[in-house]
Amino acid sequence: MYSDIVMEHFKNPRNVGVIKDANVVVKVGDPGCGDALLVFFKIVDDRVEDVKYKIFGCGAAIATSSIASEMVKGKTLDEVLEVTDAKIAAALHGLPADKMHCSNLAATAFHAAVNEYRKPQAPPVETKDEN
Ligand code: FES
Repeated sequence: MYSDIVMEHFKNPRNVGVIKDANVVVKVGDPGCGDALLVFFKIVDDRVEDVKYKIFGCGAAIATSSIASEMVKGKTLDEVLEVTDAKIAAALHGLPADKMHCSNLAATAFHAAVNEYRKPQAPPVETKDEN
C-alpha cells in the first residue's frame, strides 16, 4: 500500500517540465525496469534555483521525483548530494519493499546533475589560421 503522501505526489506531481536555459541536463535510467528520468537544473551561485524533470516511469517513480524535486529546490549543490534514496523514501513515509528501488532514479539523477555541473570543462580548441 502507498502512503497518502505518495498518492498525493503521484496525482499532483510538482516541478514537471523543462528549463530552457538550464545549466545542466542529465538523463538516468533503471536498466531493471526500463524507467527513466530526465532532469534540468538551473544553478545560480552554487544553488539549485530551479529544477524540472520529465519522468517516464511507474507511479512510485513519479512520486519520488516530485518530492525529491521539492527537497533540492533552493538547496546548495552540497546539500543536493545529501539527498539520498532513503531520505526520499522517508519523506514519502515509506514505499512498498518492491518499490524502494524507484527512489534511486531521482537521487541518482540529481547527484549526476551536480557532478556534471562540477565537471571541469575542456579548454577551448585553438585553431590556427593557415593563411
Ligand atoms: Fe521502474 Fe519504479 S518500477 S522506477
